[in-house]
Amino acid sequence: MKKLLLSLLLGSMTFQGFSQGNVYKQETGKFEGLAMTPPMGWNSWNTFATNIDEKMVKETADIMVSSGMAAAGYNYIVLDDGWMAKERDSNGDLVPDPVKFPGGMKALIDYVHSKGLKFGLYNCAGTKTCAGYPGTRGCEYQDARFYAKLEIDFLKYDWCNTAGINAPEAYGTMSNALKKAGRPIVFSLCEWGDTQVWNWGKPIGNLWRISGDIYPCFDCEYKHPENWSSWGFMKIVEMRKDIRKFSGPDHWNDFDMMEVGNEMNDTEDKSHFAMWCMMASPLIAGNDFRKMSKETLAILTNKELIAVNQDKLGIQGFKLSAEEGLEVWVKPLSDGNWAVTFLNRTDAPKKINFDWKKNPIKDVDFGFEADFNKTVFKIKDLWKNKEAGTTKKNFTADLASHDVITIRLIP
Ligand code: GLA
Repeated sequence: MKKLLLSLLLGSMTFQGFSQGNVYKQETGKFEGLAMTPPMGWNSWNTFATNIDEKMVKETADIMVSSGMAAAGYNYIVLDDGWMAKERDSNGDLVPDPVKFPGGMKALIDYVHSKGLKFGLYNCAGTKTCAGYPGTRGCEYQDARFYAKLEIDFLKYDWCNTAGINAPEAYGTMSNALKKAGRPIVFSLCEWGDTQVWNWGKPIGNLWRISGDIYPCFDCEYKHPENWSSWGFMKIVEMRKDIRKFSGPDHWNDFDMMEVGNEMNDTEDKSHFAMWCMMASPLIAGNDFRKMSKETLAILTNKELIAVNQDKLGIQGFKLSAEEGLEVWVKPLSDGNWAVTFLNRTDAPKKINFDWKKNPIKDVDFGFEADFNKTVFKIKDLWKNKEAGTTKKNFTADLASHDVITIRLIP
């Protein structure tokens, strides 16, 4: 008996000794399940840059609801760079700019919440944000507590002024800090694909930017004098069409905030929107709602296209074929449906004459196929919202320069 007691005692001592210094395990990883379909909302940057203020944000929230945008699924109002004062306070806390937000950030957030919407803020993994406001480097846990206290729902976290910083570590630290602060906040990584975020971002964030900034043009590259480029929407699609298998529910490839309603014409805006839906990209509008035309509103709230984007399979589409600038993009949808977008990349009109039987679809990344010799699909035109025959016959149509036709195939 004495022997038994002694060995039990020794055993427990050894166990305690072994575990000493290693008893605290931090809970890590993002809040799961916050973005099972691509997030939808509005972000201030594309139109307003740092010229944001309380009145504009409230008006935007009001219009989000009154215009039908909220009913169509847009629910995040995100303030990008420029919401802060230039210095932290004496406690080291971030300070919302008192001139831009005289009523205080908390009151603004409460207002947005009272409209049934969600609210997001921006900061940066570096020492300063891209526009020179206080960055989060070294203040991750303090800033996470600040956001949780404000009751925000979304944090966009950028990558300026990060020389010498390791990206997975920096984003991982902020993700853990948000988790520790306890409020479920969608974590939107914005390292532009510099360190191939799609290879390491899944346990850390709910969505991630995959490129440098978008530019409101179809296919151009805009070279900034400081030696970096912004990209037309088709440049981004083309650049990142091959990383589709890294995207999916709760870990989205983010093709950037949209430029619909900004400087392109309605045809190009329509193509831009269609491609964001085909790519299962987050749909974050970037236009001035107060000046939104009814055409822009109709594009952004097209229910059929949004259903393609929000499909629960959450698969990024791919390019099936391209012939002399006439491209066919496809996206597998739930229930055996497919979305198909014909896109005219050229400057001249094109005639579509598409023989389904000669163009079976095979998605090698996700294991879906459609063989039109075996299965006949009904066709629905998603822009006209009407039936358009079946896959028994060739699909024929005229397509203007830079225009799209998006259809749904239903078996
Ligand atoms: C970077 C981001 C943009 C925007 C600006 C703000 O360029 O990629 O989306 O947030 O910073 O300064």
